[in-house]
Amino acid sequence: MSSRKNAVITGAGRGIGAKIALRLAEDGFNVALNDLNADALEETAKACREKGVEADIFPCDVSKHDECEEIVKKIKARFGTIDVLVNNAGITRDGLLARMSEENYDLVIAVNQKSIFNMMKHCCAVMMKQRSGKVINVSSVAGLHGNAGQFNYSASKAAVIGMTKSAAKEFGSRGITVNAVAPGFIQTPMTDALTEEQKQAILNLIAMKRYGTVEEVAGVVSFLAGDDSAYVTGQIIEISGGLSM
Ligand code: NAI
Repeated sequence: MSSRKNAVITGAGRGIGAKIALRLAEDGFNVALNDLNADALEETAKACREKGVEADIFPCDVSKHDECEEIVKKIKARFGTIDVLVNNAGITRDGLLARMSEENYDLVIAVNQKSIFNMMKHCCAVMMKQRSGKVINVSSVAGLHGNAGQFNYSASKAAVIGMTKSAAKEFGSRGITVNAVAPGFIQTPMTDALTEEQKQAILNLIAMKRYGTVEEVAGVVSFLAGDDSAYVTGQIIEISGGLSM
């Protein structure tokens, strides 16, 4: 088995998750990649292998407890240790509360919130035996400050913050750190779809007067996954160009 450390990244088929996987591969981690979409995962795995590390794909729906238990077993068998877990998979089903369906509420909570329970329960069991590990959860500024039209999403991302702090308190004495990042407006297909007027309104709120990049999110995750953040736990790092201070 490889002497490298091993990182698990959920939602690594595209977007921020794919960039985090690539950055951790550049940092020298072998990567265990999860997403719903196996074809997209193969693309990410190929790019990671080109960095000289081992990469394998473990597709599943992270909102399903049994599926997570199954892939964590497979990842442990394949890589031996789980040193880093990045809970990145997430979705939006935006709409005003008055018009939000129960289905869209439940789906966003299951994918964004329950997935963190599912993956942390099984990966942290492995980390506890190792007496080491680093968990990085992807929250959002919507979880910190709320956002009109994102009642379900904000609820799920605020929960991620509570889960991060509770787990940091539970696992601190076991050598496991648990932190979260809260990205603001990051340049992705999601933000590209906004109207010029919407874009301008958002930029007015940002001290740095520009969107963030996926690389800038991956850079902070890299810090939290590495040795330089050894004494950092239970923290929520906002990556928003100064959206709020
Ligand atoms: P994206 O939609 O481009 O990528 C999300 C990935 O997660 C996709 O590959 C998708 O297939 C996967 N996924 C969705 N449901 C899944 C499930 N049930 N099981 C496994 N994989 C699943 O989204 P993006 O923009 O890269 O977002 C990544 C994370 O960053 C999400 O948690 C999102 O909430 C968060 N975030 C994004 C911001 C942005 O501006 N793009 C801002 C703040 C937070």
